[in-house]
Amino acid sequence: MSNTAFDNPFARIPNGQTRLLGVIGHPVAHTLSPAMHNPALAWLGLNMRYLAFHVHPEQLAEAVRGFVAIGMVGFNATVPHKEALLPLMNWVDPLAQRIGAVNTVAIDSDGTLRGYNTDAGGFTDALAEEFPQLELGHASVLVLGAGGAARGVVVGLLEAGTKNIVVANRTQPRAERLLTELAPFYPHARLEALSLEARRLPLETTDLLINTTLLGLAGEEIQWITMDRLPSTALVCDIVYSPPETPLLRAAKEQGLAIQNGLGMLIHQGSRAFEIWTGQKMPVERVRERLLGML
Ligand code: ATR
Repeated sequence: MSNTAFDNPFARIPNGQTRLLGVIGHPVAHTLSPAMHNPALAWLGLNMRYLAFHVHPEQLAEAVRGFVAIGMVGFNATVPHKEALLPLMNWVDPLAQRIGAVNTVAIDSDGTLRGYNTDAGGFTDALAEEFPQLELGHASVLVLGAGGAARGVVVGLLEAGTKNIVVANRTQPRAERLLTELAPFYPHARLEALSLEARRLPLETTDLLINTTLLGLAGEEIQWITMDRLPSTALVCDIVYSPPETPLLRAAKEQGLAIQNGLGMLIHQGSRAFEIWTGQKMPVERVRERLLGML
């Protein structure tokens, strides 16, 4: 169906052949994914809809069985379901296995559940798009946080060839565990776990600083980071996209450093999922324009 045909409001009404996609979360009301996927599906003339479902953790397996039973094409998962989905899959992509989290599920016509993680690639896609000059193979990267989000970011960086990564976390043993698990897969990388203590952070030699903690979501400062210790060429990322400028990003901008928030990662993880489900490229620029208008 052409885009013109889809501009007819009646063409947008679901019919007997409409296929369903969605996102599960707990909570899920804040998600931007339907606002990203539905217009993209419509622009490409695909007879599919994408809805958000609030699924309680105790009902995850039941919900997934239901999705198979009603012939859904696939779904995304957000907090807290990404880890719990792993054992429910019939097949898990090796990278998702390594990250220990599934954020995208494809359901085959015979009900086979295939689990993927598009967060890692989505993060590095966004980096490549916004910082094309950045050579990840030669960059020294400092990652703040060692939770679920950090795992995806660190694996994405390692897959993109990054060889120097320091992970600093409030609870240092958690950072150590993360890197000990990943080290065997990336024998040429230099990986170091630190605690979040200002004097120990290698800011002076950091090319790329990434905040994966939830600090900043509510406007909190990150007290361990002083921007003037970073090189003037350093790039600073936060995986938060709302607010679009966390105190960390604002401080970096004031110091004249290049910054990136989490919107690019959100769009690119979605774009990778979209391609898994539909076999087609998501119109990324149109989606970005639309989301920017909403944020
Ligand atoms: P996510 O999946 O979003 O990464 P998570 O797995 O709960 O969520 O991880 C949250 C991260 O934010 C962790 O690195 C956490 O540090 P700890 O491992 O020490 O808990 C970090 N974090 C959360 N609140 C923090 C705070 N007030 N100060 C410093 N780090 C914090």
